[in-house]
Amino acid sequence: MNIKRALIILTIIPSLIACKNKEVQQESNSSAEKQWWKEAIVYQIYPRSFKDSNGDGVGDLRGIISKLDYIQSLGITAVWLNPIYSSPNDDNGYDVSDYRNIMKDFGTMKDFDELLKGLHDRKIKLVMDLVVNHSSDEHEWFKQGRSSRTSPYRDYYHWWNAERGKPPYRYSLFDLNHDAWRYDATTNAYYLHYFSRKQPDLNWENPKLRQEVYNMMKFWADKGIDGFRLDAFQFAAKDTTFKPLPKGYEKNFTQYYAVQPGLHKYLREMNDQVFSKYNVMSVAEGAGRNLQDAHDMVDADRHELNMAYAFDAVDLAKPNGYSLVKLKQVFTHWDSAFADKGWLSIFLANHDQARLVTRFGNDSPQFREPSAKMLATFIMTMRGTPYWYNGDELGMTNIRFTDVKDYRDVQTLNEYQNQKNKGADMNAFMKQIAFSSRDNGRTPFQWDASANAGFTTGTPWIKINPNYTSINAAVEEKDANSPLSYFKKIVQLRKDNLTLVYGKYTLLDKGNDKVYAYLREGEGKKMLIVLNFSKDSAETNLELNIANAKVLMDNYAAGSSVADANGHIKLKPYEAVVCELK
Ligand code: GLC
Repeated sequence: MNIKRALIILTIIPSLIACKNKEVQQESNSSAEKQWWKEAIVYQIYPRSFKDSNGDGVGDLRGIISKLDYIQSLGITAVWLNPIYSSPNDDNGYDVSDYRNIMKDFGTMKDFDELLKGLHDRKIKLVMDLVVNHSSDEHEWFKQGRSSRTSPYRDYYHWWNAERGKPPYRYSLFDLNHDAWRYDATTNAYYLHYFSRKQPDLNWENPKLRQEVYNMMKFWADKGIDGFRLDAFQFAAKDTTFKPLPKGYEKNFTQYYAVQPGLHKYLREMNDQVFSKYNVMSVAEGAGRNLQDAHDMVDADRHELNMAYAFDAVDLAKPNGYSLVKLKQVFTHWDSAFADKGWLSIFLANHDQARLVTRFGNDSPQFREPSAKMLATFIMTMRGTPYWYNGDELGMTNIRFTDVKDYRDVQTLNEYQNQKNKGADMNAFMKQIAFSSRDNGRTPFQWDASANAGFTTGTPWIKINPNYTSINAAVEEKDANSPLSYFKKIVQLRKDNLTLVYGKYTLLDKGNDKVYAYLREGEGKKMLIVLNFSKDSAETNLELNIANAKVLMDNYAAGSSVADANGHIKLKPYEAVVCELK
């Protein structure tokens, strides 16, 4: 062999090997790689409002157990439970006083084990909320830490001794006056709480605290749960030098409050100690300050999380409507950013939002049903893991309280007081919260037309929407054309078509302000989804040959949309059509 040839081989072989390795690596972290959590359809249950089994007016675990057949009938494949741990309920369970026990209102650990088994028997996974940016001020760690400056638990939280003067201002999302530092006379010091004063922030810079959290996560993972939803975790990594905030900091809020470099370190450590050891999925509430943060959190090579959810889309809904073109831009932007690598969550509703059909559809008697079905079609046909909030499958609507006494949510009530103290226009504020308060999404699940919607035999902890007599599961189960029956079909369509999970997404007719149309291609199929987001008839020109399109779903009687072979389609108000293109 001559030297020249040998040199060529020596240089070519390693680069071939490198190339091959790269291929393997790319394959293993590409968006197209199959994973159970990508194919999951997650149904979120707000236990407090789902079903009460003992007549105390509060939903509970045995209530959920009694409705397992309903949950299974939806066809969903995973349940995400809002926090069920011991809690004094300042923020409905997001203030945990014991991470290894069940809230008294909700039942016992035995009930939990039975629920987990009931779900697993039905091949449904269970994802638990993990609330570790903060605990309750009634957690033993905080009680000990607050008792003395030398307590071994002092450094589990953030304290600022009063001799240093008042701490630099930090914004509290929930508290009166939005002051995130609370003075505590016992040790003449302030503690930090980004949420309510009963939710002191945990100090993630303390390795002992981190270890406690990982051990607690293992406790639940050992029980066999299938995933964790990390609540407000981006706030865990903060700038603890607490520099005074510059002018205009509000515009760049998270820059100072959250997503500091420590975040990735903590997530990797959590992955190493917990996620990597179990077959669990992980999803973060919030997707960072920018796309890079989001990528870094969910890039499989970095061993942090499986997915995150971003808020840009839910934040668009305002009392006077929203721009569909903007909504399309947001979803398309996020999709393209994760087209090759990483994974996203798809959602437009949860327990922190008012009702889906009120915000993004139309809850008038004429359009509630078609718009609820159209929204279900949207969520179930996008790329990413869909999250669906309980009750939206019935097309439940905002209750629109007119008396502040009816509200229960700490955020809404404190903001009411803040606005009042400021002398704001309280009529305008009441209108605003009738549209946006989280309590709208937390009124009890409407099971049937009996007293209290079949939710409780006692007095419900929050009022029930009076429209339960006509909007309820029992009625909708019997009606083949109800939003509920449609929801089951669209869920099944997603399960039958991996194209809807992994297929490439392409936006069509992007400037159309009424119609959202897109293609999903892959897994051997090409599917077209056309959704009229408006209360008017609408048209779209897709410039696409749809001559042989086969309609798979239509939320009106099949075939009511009119199309010509060139892709010019006329749709009824809120019409949703899914077809397969040949
Ligand atoms: C998250 C939860 C919300 C809670 C807050 C504080 O945003 O979704 O319900 O109030 O964190 O824990």
